Amino acid sequence: MTASGEDFTNNAKLLAWVDEAAGLCKPDRIHWCDGSQEEYDRLCQEMVESGTFIKLNEQKRPQSYLARSDPGDVARVEDRTFICSEKAEDAGPTNNWAEPADMKRTLKGLFDGCMRGRTLYVCPFSMGPLGSPISHIGVQITDSAYAAVNMRIMTRMGKKVLEVLGDGDFVRCLHSIGAPLQPGQKDVPWPCNKNKYIVHFPEQRAIWSFGSGYGGNALLGKKCFALRIASAMARDEGWMAEHMLVLGLESPDGEKTYIAAAFPSACGKTNLAMLIPPAGFDGWKVSTVGDDIAWIKPGADGRLYAINPEAGYFGVAPGTSMTSNPTALRTLTRNCLYTNVALTDDGDVWWEGLDGDPPAHAIDWRGDDWTPESDGLAAHPNSRFTAPAGQCPSIDPAWEDPQGVPISAFIFGGRLSTTFPLAFQSFDWRHGVYLAATMGSEATAAAVGQAAIRRDPMAMLPFCGYNMADYWRHWLEMGSLITQPPLIFRVNWFRKNENGKFIWPGFGENMRVLKWIVDCVHNRARRVESPFGFMPRHQDLNWRGLDYDAKTFYHLMTVDRQAGMAEADDQKKLFERFGSRLPKELEVQRQRLIERLDRAPAVWELERQ
Ligand code: OXD
Ligand code: MN
Repeated sequence: MTASGEDFTNNAKLLAWVDEAAGLCKPDRIHWCDGSQEEYDRLCQEMVESGTFIKLNEQKRPQSYLARSDPGDVARVEDRTFICSEKAEDAGPTNNWAEPADMKRTLKGLFDGCMRGRTLYVCPFSMGPLGSPISHIGVQITDSAYAAVNMRIMTRMGKKVLEVLGDGDFVRCLHSIGAPLQPGQKDVPWPCNKNKYIVHFPEQRAIWSFGSGYGGNALLGKKCFALRIASAMARDEGWMAEHMLVLGLESPDGEKTYIAAAFPSACGKTNLAMLIPPAGFDGWKVSTVGDDIAWIKPGADGRLYAINPEAGYFGVAPGTSMTSNPTALRTLTRNCLYTNVALTDDGDVWWEGLDGDPPAHAIDWRGDDWTPESDGLAAHPNSRFTAPAGQCPSIDPAWEDPQGVPISAFIFGGRLSTTFPLAFQSFDWRHGVYLAATMGSEATAAAVGQAAIRRDPMAMLPFCGYNMADYWRHWLEMGSLITQPPLIFRVNWFRKNENGKFIWPGFGENMRVLKWIVDCVHNRARRVESPFGFMPRHQDLNWRGLDYDAKTFYHLMTVDRQAGMAEADDQKKLFERFGSRLPKELEVQRQRLIERLDRAPAVWELERQ
């Protein structure tokens, strides 16, 4: 073994932990990642030689590579994800829990010798700009070179992080694909293990991930650290780790407003973060701070400040097109990694939903021949790009500001074909927390009126590292901690009419709602009180450049009393899961909604107010 950790750091805790992990995992070699371009290039080249990576056409996609995963390792595994807090009730009813000492025993058994024949990579990384008071440092140990190169894009990774760390503490992130090699055994392009465990020990600030090489299971800085562990740290330390995009809106006269927004998966978060203002918004600019995660801390001025802890985008490729998100496509022109997309005959990538005709022939995500007549999809629905955030044409000039950007509004949205209007503002912070806690998306694209809502509070259902009821309490408390809390909004881009057609055009046109939110922030908006919250009237939105009649708008904004009551009733099922741990305030808010609906006409019409 040629490990020379002392060349990289004097941090005794880190050196001891790497020794301990190596003693357990028994790798053939240890490599400390310095994070340099040369190292990244060399690891990519080694993966080309081993068959894990395919180099894409250098003219079309310079410095970019494609990987195809094992067909059984294509997504996060929520049923194999555990929050092992000391007490079961601290993980709460929405997380899988196991007794920490038992789980450690199981994991130690699995990790024993799991890196035989492989290299153990030590990847020190910072979530957030190096040295920012909002940032935190982790170290990932992994036997996957794929994870190491992805971590170099998704985080600030390498030697420079150890300089900032000094002899400080760090989140321990231990990862193995769980596929040791016997002497002489030939490797496969995507080694992994059928038995998967994604385990979090929130009190120990530690993550153990076994068996998967894919995305959130393997790039431990993202969901595991930046959401599950960080949410527990944030609760203890008085800040917030949220599953939110952050964008900046600049008006033609230079007024800048930052908004953070949470949506469950498949609601177009990356598209919103990179929105291009439509016709009628000359001089307006939308800029991107982050597309997935925000770490938010109170500033000395009583406002909340957010950083994007990530340094790259790990985005879903299918559906990304010049119509849905031209900015993302422009981010993908070079230096990117692709996983499970299709390979064209000229060495480019392709996925369903990309502009233009499908290629006459391609190699699909499984490595098989594909033509438009083939039965299966060319790209896996959860195929991804890994792209450096700094390459994004709409990146906000302050995206690496160590102080973060001041947040003026939070938006929460789901995918709901009925009941919920396009946009409304909460009456106050507490009501806003209730609106966020009860949000969700329809579980299926079932017929209008029949779909069940999968509640996804604050879009954190799979990502909250502790009891969701305590998380709501933390949200309520944060509101009293700050003197200038952001305004809170609910939006729904997905309401449908009686014929099952979307009523709202969505995509860039969502700018019209964002502009109203900006007006609310700066006290310029007229708002009407509805049973759900404050609403804009037709004349309060900028309609220039869009032919959208007032009648359709008012249809979009109606509140049906019976549907509202059914919603309030359904929310009860969520609240009841938490028993006495539920903050009383949330049930108070639910009762208030019922009272407001009681007083409302059967069909509450904005137009009549
Ligand atoms: C993601 C997710 O991949 O939320 O960002 O699942
Ligand atoms: Mn996400």
